Amino acid sequence: MTDHPTSPNPTAVPATTARPNPAGVRRLAVLTSGGDAPGMNAAIRAVVRTGTQQGIEMIGVRRGFSGLHRGELVVMGARDVANIIQRGGTILLTARSRTWRTPEGRARGAQVLRDWGVDGLIVIGGDGSFHGGHYLQEEHGIPVIGIPGTIDNDLYGTDHTIGYFTAVETALDAVDKLRDTGASHERIFVIEVMGRHAGHIALDVAVAGGAEEVFIPEDHKPVAGVVEIVKDSVAKGKRGSIIIVAEGYEGGAQGVADAIEAGTGLETRVSILGHIQRGGSPVSSDRILASRLGEAAVYALMEGRKGVMVGRGASGVIYTPLHETWEKRKDVSRDLYRCAMTLSI
Ligand code: F6P
Repeated sequence: MTDHPTSPNPTAVPATTARPNPAGVRRLAVLTSGGDAPGMNAAIRAVVRTGTQQGIEMIGVRRGFSGLHRGELVVMGARDVANIIQRGGTILLTARSRTWRTPEGRARGAQVLRDWGVDGLIVIGGDGSFHGGHYLQEEHGIPVIGIPGTIDNDLYGTDHTIGYFTAVETALDAVDKLRDTGASHERIFVIEVMGRHAGHIALDVAVAGGAEEVFIPEDHKPVAGVVEIVKDSVAKGKRGSIIIVAEGYEGGAQGVADAIEAGTGLETRVSILGHIQRGGSPVSSDRILASRLGEAAVYALMEGRKGVMVGRGASGVIYTPLHETWEKRKDVSRDLYRCAMTLSI
């Protein structure tokens, strides 16, 4: 990426597209951190192209905060992000860095950014990544903007996070396939979807996949209730049942399946979808969200904003202090749960 011959940064920005740059931003860096999410590449593309179009030199940091304190930086131009909008994963690579949790690690990273003359850092990731960005700014004064990139959709300050829509589609596709087998064998399938602390994916998949019951970490619902639900559905003549469990629910899918088998004696299968939900080509909603937030993140730094996440709500772009994205709780939709239960008669 460093020496790409066809990716020069423009020296002059056409007056029609130039944005106010009161912060005097000349160089920006971008990294992806934490769990990868479909649409991260679309966000990188949007950040690099928006900055380039504004006459800002763009730097990519490889391997997240781990790469930052090791100095793994590369100059990126518009052509370096060609043909990635449709690709899953992240071309910049990602990591969960232990060293960054130490003040020494962050000091090394801050020095790298100063050595490269970087005026601001854009962090694409989830709450762990935003902790990293928050402390970098607090301790070293380097302006940081967060872009929400996680399949879990568990960040306060945005209706949706990049990767969430695709993860739901991937999980739903698996649920539909498992339903075929469940109905053919008259079995109960207990399907575990991702969501360490949050049930957003589980609730969406439960409604869209026609589940009998759903267990999410937010509810602390006793597992015993599932026995009556399954007995009831058998009594109604149902030939197979789908139960959705978010991975963060205590006991997970296996705990729910064990309770069903012990309480009903019925044949049950567990399917843990796992990391398959993190991969794949992003659906259009994730690409569009990533593109809009990538653009907004660069403009935010040019306007002198810092220490905030750019998110989207009904009113458009929302700026939320990084620490609020994890301190405040984004509630799961109780309406969705009610809807799933109403329709499972
Ligand atoms: O935060 C996203 C997420 O996919 C969670 O749902 C899941 O618990 C976790 O990442 C898995 O992380 P790792 O890839 O490090 O195992």
